[in-house]
This record gives sequence, structure tokens and C-alpha cells, in this order.
Amino acid sequence: MKQQREHWGTRLGFIMATAGSAIGLGSLWRFPYVTGQNGGGAFVMLYLFFTLIIGIPVFISELLIGRASQKSAVLAYNDLSHGSTHWKLLGWLNLITSFIILSYYSVVSGWTLNYTVMSLNNFTANKTPEQIRNIFEILFKSGDISVFWHFIFMTMTVGVVFCGIRKGIEYWSKILTPALFTILIGLFIYSTTLPGFPAAVKFILYPDFSKLTASGVLTALGMSLFTLSVGLGIILTYGSYMKNSDDIPKTGLIIGSVSVLVSLFSALMIFPIVFTFGFKPEAGPGLVFQTLPVLFSKLPGTILLSTTFFILFVFATLTSAISLLEIIVANLIEVFEWTRTKAVLIAGLLAFLLGIPTALSGSGTLFKNWKAIFGGDFFDTVNNITATWFMPISAFLTVIFISFIMKKNFSEQEFSKGTTLQKTMHIWFFLVRYVAPIAIFIIILQETGVINLSKLFTK
Ligand code: ALA
Repeated sequence: MKQQREHWGTRLGFIMATAGSAIGLGSLWRFPYVTGQNGGGAFVMLYLFFTLIIGIPVFISELLIGRASQKSAVLAYNDLSHGSTHWKLLGWLNLITSFIILSYYSVVSGWTLNYTVMSLNNFTANKTPEQIRNIFEILFKSGDISVFWHFIFMTMTVGVVFCGIRKGIEYWSKILTPALFTILIGLFIYSTTLPGFPAAVKFILYPDFSKLTASGVLTALGMSLFTLSVGLGIILTYGSYMKNSDDIPKTGLIIGSVSVLVSLFSALMIFPIVFTFGFKPEAGPGLVFQTLPVLFSKLPGTILLSTTFFILFVFATLTSAISLLEIIVANLIEVFEWTRTKAVLIAGLLAFLLGIPTALSGSGTLFKNWKAIFGGDFFDTVNNITATWFMPISAFLTVIFISFIMKKNFSEQEFSKGTTLQKTMHIWFFLVRYVAPIAIFIIILQETGVINLSKLFTK
């Protein structure tokens, strides 16, 4: 018997769940460290620009495809492609990308769990900023601890997805997303009082284009897609739980703005610490773990503050991890008609296994020659290949799909349902039909070395 598709209980619940999926490691962990590695202001400016002209339009497109098909990614692309059998491969690309991201997402989130527990033990007491910073190095090199926390985090994710969309995702997102905003704003306000704040503002907001490289441009695009969870089929699947009366363009604008704000607040909270205590902006994936505990150690109520922050951090990553696993499960159920239990357990177990080499990256106990062959450890490879390559390629194919494969009238009709922003339809369509595909295509050609745009700007 065909089951009726579940729909979001309330509009607020949907917005919160989508915001919960968007806000996670992307804004809180990835954005600050890639901004540091890519020279600051110019990178941030590109990230904002790409979010506006590519990220949000693709986000809206995914919601439309999901609601129009009432299916998850694989079958949605298949059903709306007028008999072509190839487009479902885009759904599979979405799924594989989500799966790989989930594997390392759980490892990094596991580190946040570890920091939560360490916070309860007041781990920064009597330590210099340098010593606090080094704690992350020790954790990164301790493969067994990373695997342990990775296991715990994946088990939590599997547990919540097991409960089904409404009970699990909506309930927790409604409570925890606003709590995270509140603590972020509080910490940001404190950061403004640090001596390094002016240098941080200059670093983040003053664009120095000489510091931007070609690969920085693709990283900025990947960054904007990553924070919005697009190119993963997540937003598409969430769109399939929407009703015709829901306002898709407005949702896109709200989520786009919120995720940009959280990214900026998080950088404005972290870089004052970097500049006050003489840390390196380009420190890499450990940046957030090396800096924030220093801030907490300077504040009154260190244990309470640090523990509360890391608990909220864990929940922010959990709501994103839930969405990554949820879409894999939703597709497996639809395509293979598996039971929810089977799909959740198999996908969770495989993602856990794939995460093990990432958890062991710092200790170097597995794949010893990986770095020599691929130029970075296993973690770097999976992190790069997904956020910098698979997501932009998926986004490119998604905009091609919505503007050339789905009929224009059909897309526009779907856009119009339930919206109060009807006037933005032509802008959206222009962006997804011309601007986004051309821009993504050029950025990819530049990154692969097929063209070299920098020659245009140098004599
Ligand atoms: N959008 C999710 C995040 O930023 C994947 O963490």
C-alpha cells in the first residue's frame, strides 16, 4: 500500500529544521578556517556574492524540485526529467556526497563532544593560550579517542533519524537553534572588547584581492553551497515534505541570510582571539577548537559557559548530521523499498566505517602513504572532494535541470505557489538559467587549469 508522504507539522518547525540543517560545521567550523587559509576579506566577499547569486537560487530550485515531485532526490530527478533515465544519476551524486560528508562530519562533531566533556572538567584551568591551543593537536593525533567520539556521535545521529522527521528533527531544532543564536551573539559581543577585534574586522571585511588564489574562488563557491546544504539533495528532500501553501522563495532568503549571519558572527568571534593571542589565521581545521577555549578561559563561569557552548555546538552539528543521514535514508527507502530500520542502520554503519580513516588521519596509523600520493591526509581528501568538487558540480547540474529540463512554465508555477515574493521570480529564473551555470562552469574550468582568467588581469 502506498503511504502518504509526511509533511512538516508547522511552518516554524520547517524553517527551524532547515536552518538546523544549514547551520552546523559549515558556518561554525569550516567558514572561519577556510577564511583564514584564503586571506580573509576578499574570500568573504566572494562567499557572500556566491551565496546571493548561486547558493540561494539553487536552494530555492531544490525546494521546488522536491515539492513538485513529492519524492526524494533520486526519484525526483527521474520523475521530472520527461523519461530520461540519466538524471537520476544526479540524485545518486547528491547521495554519495552526503554520505561522504556525513562520514567526516561525524568525526569533527565527535571532537565537539570531546570538548564538551573536557569543558565539564575545566580543561583550560591554569593553562596558557599556547597550551590550550596544543590540546587540539594532541586530540587530532589520538586516533583512538577520535574514533570513540565518532562512534558516539554517529550513534546519536542514527537514534534521532530513527524517530522519523517530525518527532526527531522538528522538536529539537525548535528548541536548540534559537539557543545557539543567543550564545553566539553573546560571545560575539564579548569578542568586540578584545584588543585584537579591530585587526579581526579588517581581516574579515577588508577585501585584499592579492591574497585570493584561483582555488580560493572555487573554495568560496563550495563554502556557500556547504553552509546552505545544497548540492546534497537535503533541501530537495525537505522540499518534498512542504505543502503548496508554503512560501519557497521566502524560505530561501531567510535561510540564506541566517546562515550568512552565523558564518560572519562565528568568524567575528574567532578572529579577535587569533589576533589578540598571536595565533595563525591559517591554522586549518583545528582553528575553532584552538581559539574558543582560550576565550572561555578568560571569562567568568568558564565551566558553565564552555560546556553550554559546546553542547549547543554539538546540537548544531547534530541537526545537520541528521539531515545528511535523513536524505540517504529517505532515498534508500524510496528506491529499494527498504524499511526505515534497515536503511538507518546500514547507512549509519557504513558512514561510521568510512569515517574511521578520517578519525585516524592525525595519528597516521592507516594509509601511511596517502599524503605522499594525494598531497593531503585522508581527511583533507574527503573534505576537499565533496565541498570543493562534488557540491559545485551538483549545483551546476541542478540549475541546468530546473531551467532546461523541467518546463519553464512548470518551474514558474511551482515558484508562484504560496509565495508573497512573486516579483522575484524573473530574477531567480535569470540567475538559475544564465548566471549560475555560466559562473560555476567558468570557476571549474579555471580550477582545472583549462582556462586562466588571471592572465586577463595581468600585463
Ligand atoms: N549545511 C551543513 C553545515 O553547514 C552541512 O554544516
